[in-house]
Amino acid sequence: MEIRTLRTSELDAAWELDADSFHIGPEKREHWMRFVDPERVLGAFEGERLVGVAEVLPFGQFFGGCAVAMGGLSGVSVAPDLRGSGLAKRLCTACLETMRERGEVISSLYPGTTSLYRGLGWELAGSVAVRKIAPRSLLALPRTERGRTRPMTSADVDSVRACYWRLAQPTNGCLDRAGPLWERLEAAWEDRSGFVFEGEAGRVAGYVVYHQIDGEYSHLGGEFGIVLDEMVATTRDAAVALWRLLGSWGSQADQVVFRGAVEEPALLLLPEQESSTLADFRWMTRVVDAVGAVASRGFPHGLKIEVPLSLSDPILGANQGDYVLSVQKGRGELARTGVGSGPVFGIGAFSSLYTGWATTARLGAAGLLAGGTSEQRAALDAAFGGPTPWMLDEF
Ligand SMILES: CC(C)(COP(=O)(O)OP(=O)(O)OC[C@H]1O[C@@H](n2cnc3c(N)ncnc32)[C@H](O)[C@@H]1OP(=O)(O)O)[C@@H](O)C(=O)NCCC(=O)NCCS
Repeated sequence: MEIRTLRTSELDAAWELDADSFHIGPEKREHWMRFVDPERVLGAFEGERLVGVAEVLPFGQFFGGCAVAMGGLSGVSVAPDLRGSGLAKRLCTACLETMRERGEVISSLYPGTTSLYRGLGWELAGSVAVRKIAPRSLLALPRTERGRTRPMTSADVDSVRACYWRLAQPTNGCLDRAGPLWERLEAAWEDRSGFVFEGEAGRVAGYVVYHQIDGEYSHLGGEFGIVLDEMVATTRDAAVALWRLLGSWGSQADQVVFRGAVEEPALLLLPEQESSTLADFRWMTRVVDAVGAVASRGFPHGLKIEVPLSLSDPILGANQGDYVLSVQKGRGELARTGVGSGPVFGIGAFSSLYTGWATTARLGAAGLLAGGTSEQRAALDAAFGGPTPWMLDEF
């Protein structure tokens, strides 16, 4: 079995495998072909036949206010007749090696199965919820007289991107959307409804992109639903105005469905806790280069610590060893030492701590962290902890 980067002439076969594995309709083919970069897809070949693929997307992911170079693992698929023979494991391991070479110091993914990725060092690292709310309850929000909502146009591209950045940069887990990600999204939003909210001095302080979906009885003239492709509000006025715009659909639609953080910020605005959760799930992250990952993220300003810790990593052995983590002035450093006298982590557990999803107590209770004093563990929690990481993107 040969594993290597795809050639352009092999993209058709990759699309076939991907479309079959993820039940993607032919209408999505053009979009897929437009944005796929064969240099970023690894293929497994049995003779001439492409039997497995995995794509590594070039992302940045914000942690502690800094964009950390992240390889987004996506579209891992293996031909049905060859599943269960360790091929996905080999492909993902090869992807990790390419990420390390490219300087992508962490990797995140949405797991179809957790155990495959956990076995390779990814661990639960961020939470996302899909919620629904009745549009009528959004109308309970007080009207805002400041600013105005208007249709989004192609002239809004830069201000919409800037608005997203103001939300994403301080939010652990959000993508920085450098590279082709924005173009991908904007192409996907072409046939959607979009509105922006202009606040002070005409600055775009929020936007919403959505589409309609059939309800159970739409074919009989019954109500339909509104699905948010994305909503970002960076001020209270923007949030109120955009939620009220969605609330105005209450005469025809029975639900607004949206994804976001597990703890929804809109609950601070709404008079009642009326949204309900349809699904909640967790993405996974793997530290690919421990020293680089610590150097790339931000840490709390005002925190000064030095903690010894040990890492084990059977897949990427360069991470393995004893270190001292130093944090000061908002930056961190992981330096090698000769002796291990602190908490001991597998690379997966360290990854879950790194994003702030798991605390040392949660890892300890799961048997994923051993050793260290309570002071050392508290210092690690102070360095990495924060609100549960989440992101708007799915890949
Ligand atoms: C998921 C998929 C990629 C696995 O490929 P594969 O080559 O069969 O996987 P491997 O043989 O390398 O399995 C490695 C480990 O992953 C886990 N695993 C693989 N498939 C699994 C499944 N369907 N359910 C649960 N665990 C699974 C097992 O723990 C396995 O470890 P083991 O060999 O010790 O039992 C393949 O089934 C597939 O293409 N599915 C459709 C597309 C998909 O869901 N992709 C994943 C998107 S994130």
